[in-house]
Amino acid sequence: MTAINSAAELTTQGDVAILSLNSPPVNALSAGVRDGIHDGIKAAIADPAVKAIVLICEGRTFIAGADITEFGGAAKGASLFDAQAMIENSPKPVIAAIHGTALGGGLEVALACHYRIAVPSAKCGLPEVNLGLLPGAGGTQRLPRIVGPEKALEMVTSGQHVPAEQCHRVGLVDEMAKEGNLKADAIAFAEKLVAEGRPLKKVRDQNDKVEAARGKPEIFADFRKANARKFRGFKAPEYNIQCIEAAVNLPFDEGMAVERKLFVELLTGEQSAAQRYAFFAERTANKIPDVPDDTPIRKIEKVGIIGAGTMGGGIAMNFLNAGIPVTIVEVQQEALDRGLKVVRGNYERSAKNGRFTMETVEKRMGMITGALSQDALADCDLVIEAVFERMDVKKEIFTNLDRICKPGAILATNTSALNIDEIGDVTSRPQDVIGLHFFSPANVMRLLEIVRTDKTANDVIATSMKLAKTIGKVAVLVGVAPGFVGNRMLAQRGRESQKMVLEGAMPWDIDRVLYDFGFPMGPFAMSDLAGLDLGWVKSESKGATIRDQLCELDRRGQKTGAGYYDYDENRNAKPSPVTEKIINDFVAKSGANPRTISDDEILERTLYAMVNEGAKILEEKKAIRASDIDVVWVNGYGWPIYRGGPMHWADSVGLPKILARIKEFEATMGEQWKPSPLLEKLVAEGKGFKDLK
Ligand code: 3HC
Repeated sequence: MTAINSAAELTTQGDVAILSLNSPPVNALSAGVRDGIHDGIKAAIADPAVKAIVLICEGRTFIAGADITEFGGAAKGASLFDAQAMIENSPKPVIAAIHGTALGGGLEVALACHYRIAVPSAKCGLPEVNLGLLPGAGGTQRLPRIVGPEKALEMVTSGQHVPAEQCHRVGLVDEMAKEGNLKADAIAFAEKLVAEGRPLKKVRDQNDKVEAARGKPEIFADFRKANARKFRGFKAPEYNIQCIEAAVNLPFDEGMAVERKLFVELLTGEQSAAQRYAFFAERTANKIPDVPDDTPIRKIEKVGIIGAGTMGGGIAMNFLNAGIPVTIVEVQQEALDRGLKVVRGNYERSAKNGRFTMETVEKRMGMITGALSQDALADCDLVIEAVFERMDVKKEIFTNLDRICKPGAILATNTSALNIDEIGDVTSRPQDVIGLHFFSPANVMRLLEIVRTDKTANDVIATSMKLAKTIGKVAVLVGVAPGFVGNRMLAQRGRESQKMVLEGAMPWDIDRVLYDFGFPMGPFAMSDLAGLDLGWVKSESKGATIRDQLCELDRRGQKTGAGYYDYDENRNAKPSPVTEKIINDFVAKSGANPRTISDDEILERTLYAMVNEGAKILEEKKAIRASDIDVVWVNGYGWPIYRGGPMHWADSVGLPKILARIKEFEATMGEQWKPSPLLEKLVAEGKGFKDLK
């Protein structure tokens, strides 16, 4: 055994050299790993006894990509291109042996190898697009040479992790290994290649698939058109497409030059900086300073849910998908049946769309039990209450749960507004009470706000954070305050939007500005989608607000074909003359003098109000860090990830500029615009949210 460096060692078995990389946690291509590959392959080539080389990784995965933490730093050690050239130009076959994930630069290393073998559980992908990048080490030029441009377009623009069996079918993986037997199978494969005298297959020289697509620009035009909505606002997907186009139309080295130029442009741009920030923000959110990593975790093997409405049913699906049985409780049989029917319907729709089989539907439905009494929750490890937002009702439920549930069960509420300290205090075990705030639709939205009270125990927090990962959610720990983090900031945006309508802007003006900023929809379109009658009571409505008047006309949103907007049968929205008249009459009656509000002002008032509130949340320690707020907004509210999140965006705009404008608004509009002292402090110290410890 020869240690090449701290990240690589070389051993031999017969006439096969095994270059083994070991750089936890994910064998990312740091300078040490690149050097290890370069020098290790060189040493194996120099050894006359070696006839073939296996490149394999220790730990949980094959190389998961370039080391993102090195981006933007000074170049050190061998470049990735040097390492790849050493592999590709080796006179002895180099075989990549893949387990875990071969991602980004990791797959690009494997693509420079002459052959690839993988275990069935392995996955391959070029996920750079999710970091606002494109594969910058030949991935866009080599991948289409194996899988063809259509499949390559799909892979580089989605970043999907493709299962090994599928990679095998499209030729990306040459040979399958037995699970758990990668090393031995890779060595056997290498010996076979040598014995059969198989040629050194260089992907760069395989031109048939790209040549077949030459002169067919419609491949790219159609792809752009089909995905225009999905790619809106993002730079990276288009750049990735241009690279695949270059692979089709240019010789390999010229294609490589196009890839390099576009890669550098993305790497140094704002979008990729924001998306890389978001990548680490999501992972940092898991780290809770006062909850140590070794905090014991409670077992969650059975979950109870109270309320089989849209929210309760959606929440249940998360656990069923993860193989955790659920008991769901409703008051009336009819409501219970309806709730279970909706869950089944959702699953059947997914099965129809080919996402899984009907057998899976039955398996999941077999894990959910309906009940009409909370007594059925006695043996649950976690109970989540998901009934309507009334404190008296919640208190009654938690008093019951305290009596019914076994000791050590976690008692959670899905409230999005109420004081969870108060809810916990009706029980004899407030340390077991926590908020699990799911977002609608709960089976789809990735965000989970985990709300700790003053008394929530550390192991309840640790268990909830881990559970979130098990059910595929992005969790952010927040404190108790009206609206927690997300809705509290949303309320500020809503307030300013409503005010601007009374000053002369139309709902569609405001929506357009926020849509162009990158949100999937603006606040008024969102209200129409949610239903304008949420919390509206017909018998009590006196036409006091624009919303009241719309609801009174049965314009209750998309579901009634009209709300702020008019909708056609395909739910396409059109500005409504009816709404416009209601607003104009309303404004005239109020005596206000309508004015034209600029797009800049719309953006500033909606977003600066959020930034100011975010700063207050930090000041009150209701969020641990600014990046946690960004994770909430990106994953729960459609904030465009290529702008990082409201706090990251605020730093990029410049806090002095934002504060100055907030002060102007305060002077003309009053108290609601009072700047957060934290914002003032940061500006005085020349710092940004990113500098907060
Ligand atoms: N660089 C640096 N650190 C990385 C990393 C990378 N490429 N990938 C993961 N990490 C770190 C994470 O930050 C995390 O650190 P922490 O424990 O301190 O928070 C740790 O590794 C474990 O990561 P996860 O918590 O995400 O672990 P999972 O097991 O859930 O997921 C994974 C593993 C699927 C590999 C996931 O981490 C991932 O998707 N990583 C990014 C993969 C990627 O985007 N690769 C392309 C990079 S860009 C590139 O290669 C450019 C090239 O074309 C030139």
